[in-house]
Amino acid sequence: MPNQILVIGSSNTDMVVKTQKLPAPGETVLGGTFFMNPGGKGANQAVAAARLGGQVTFVAKVGDDIFGQQAVTGFQQEGINTRYILTDAEHPSGVALINVDASGENCITVAPGSNAHLQANETAEALQTMASDTLVLLQLEIPLSTVEHVVKQAARRGLRVILNPAPAQALPTDLFQHLFLITPNETEAELFTGIRVADLPTAKLAAQKLHELGVSNVVITLGSKGAYLSTETQDQLISTAVVKAIDTTAAGDCFNGALAVGLAEGQPLPDAIAFACKAASISVTRMGAQASMPKREEVDQ
Ligand code: ATP
Ligand code: RIB
Repeated sequence: MPNQILVIGSSNTDMVVKTQKLPAPGETVLGGTFFMNPGGKGANQAVAAARLGGQVTFVAKVGDDIFGQQAVTGFQQEGINTRYILTDAEHPSGVALINVDASGENCITVAPGSNAHLQANETAEALQTMASDTLVLLQLEIPLSTVEHVVKQAARRGLRVILNPAPAQALPTDLFQHLFLITPNETEAELFTGIRVADLPTAKLAAQKLHELGVSNVVITLGSKGAYLSTETQDQLISTAVVKAIDTTAAGDCFNGALAVGLAEGQPLPDAIAFACKAASISVTRMGAQASMPKREEVDQ
């Protein structure tokens, strides 16, 4: 039996416009196509993990509105345990406005709404109920105080915590020691270490700094270059497939959801990362966040 995965994080509705180029400040770009699909880093990672065969429980706070209802129905259709999802009577569900250009690059604005009101004490029941070999997967689209509380409570219970520190923001230095694994991208790694990650040597230096902050296992995602793994005993660059990127939105989310599934199945870290790279390389060939998450058969093929 694979270990269970507890994802605690955000749920948004993504309003996506694909255009030839991203607008500059003050500029209007005409001629795009629009589509709406479910997003939010927490929800994307939960859906990615569920589609790849993970047993997922998701804790989030949605608004008392159609977006929130649609999101929860979607999670249930994916087989995700939604028992601990809360409804906020005062704040609307999160919304993200996303522009994607012809090369698949994006720019995103998020109105967090109810996600910004998921309180630490509202995660307690889920945290207490999960089995002791559960993997906990967190991001930074809910209050930092809640993330800190969950990390410390989970570590106290001996649960392994994976922190995907996105979107980038400074973290209290005493947080790192409680993590099993941290998965920054290049920008986030630079924020924590001051090292501009551009290649393998700089990724190594940044990972070393993260080890010094107290995390034993570091995975720095490097976009089309794959992901760099550094632990106390090994370090290696794991490459990703060469694909034509259509929309890289949520590539990191797909990677993290898949990584959690690999680890929950007992795969060694390098194998779980290779699995995550495969899944994420498929996701970038499709539009959307949750809409782009692959199924297990696709990755295994
Ligand atoms: P995003 O913010 O777009 O969700 P991110 O910045 O958090 O992504 P990246 O490092 O860009 O994360 O990508 C995560 C993983 O997705 C990479 O490690 C890689 O495996 C895969 N990936 C991303 N972009 C590409 C690409 N163009 N081609 C193939 N794989 C990709
Ligand atoms: O990581 C991609 C996600 O970031 C989008 O789905 C959007 O909702 C924002 O949260």
